[in-house]
Amino acid sequence: MEPSEKYLYKYKGMYFHPEYVTPELIDSLEEFEIRVSDVFLITYPKSGTVWTQNILSLIFHEGHRDETEDIHVIDRVPWLEYNLNKLDYANRPSPRLFTTHLPYYLVPRGLKNKRVKVIYVARNPKDVLVSYFHFSKIVITLEEIPDFNIFMERFLAGKVHSSSWLDHVRGWYDHRDEFSILFLTYEEMIKDLRGVVLRICDFLGKELSEDDLDTVVKKATFENMKEDPRANYETMPGGLLEKDKGHFLRKGTVGDWKNTMTVAQNERFEEVFKEKMKDLPFNYVWNN
Ligand code: A3P
Repeated sequence: MEPSEKYLYKYKGMYFHPEYVTPELIDSLEEFEIRVSDVFLITYPKSGTVWTQNILSLIFHEGHRDETEDIHVIDRVPWLEYNLNKLDYANRPSPRLFTTHLPYYLVPRGLKNKRVKVIYVARNPKDVLVSYFHFSKIVITLEEIPDFNIFMERFLAGKVHSSSWLDHVRGWYDHRDEFSILFLTYEEMIKDLRGVVLRICDFLGKELSEDDLDTVVKKATFENMKEDPRANYETMPGGLLEKDKGHFLRKGTVGDWKNTMTVAQNERFEEVFKEKMKDLPFNYVWNN
């Protein structure tokens, strides 16, 4: 079953949503003016993007996150290619924090100067698949595919938003030397959130006091983010989420694929992906 053109079109090897992203926009991003103080968070969908957005926002803006200010994380670490709230990126104060799902070859050329910090978060593709499957049910502008088998085949063929998980991760990993890049995994964030926050701070040259570090870690836990309307994506612009069908912060665990995928589906998944991701440094995720 091919994806409907209402929801997806392919441009330069990548699937985009026609409502949000035009080919002209993608072309223009190549020349997007970069500042050396910019920080880019890069992910394949469902890999912990909003979690890391929130962590970055907390690291940089903790002092402003008091009870009086209600700026949503998507306005603090906005999407490069989906400027949902029409922010003025060119006149934003530094340091600007951005998020993107773009593959390595479509990001602004200026990122390759190796001075701009890039953080890439990867997640076990089986958990990504399951999370993506549920996500497609709650986002009104995504095609809902109720049959998991069909969704999985689309995912394996890369016929979903942001195309193939494998190509995305491999592309960024194989081209890592062209960027100043920190690779993180969702699984290590689950295992040792504090350690990961410290690594991010270290990479970005940010020093936090012990108290601030504690606050960042506390506010970035699944439970706290779920309660925090600035972080939980429940108030997405344009009523993007059908809240009665589920939540953006769904389970937040490692290995949930085991609750969804049958033995046969798992075998099929590994038949297509396992060999091809053998030399990626994320092999351990298969054991989760
Ligand atoms: P699940 O659907 O498996 O629960 P993205 O932001 O890239 O779309 O990723 C969404 C996934 O990250 C969802 O996974 C969501 O629950 C999880 N997530 C978000 N915040 C989290 C947190 N603080 N801790 C653990 N997982 C989190």
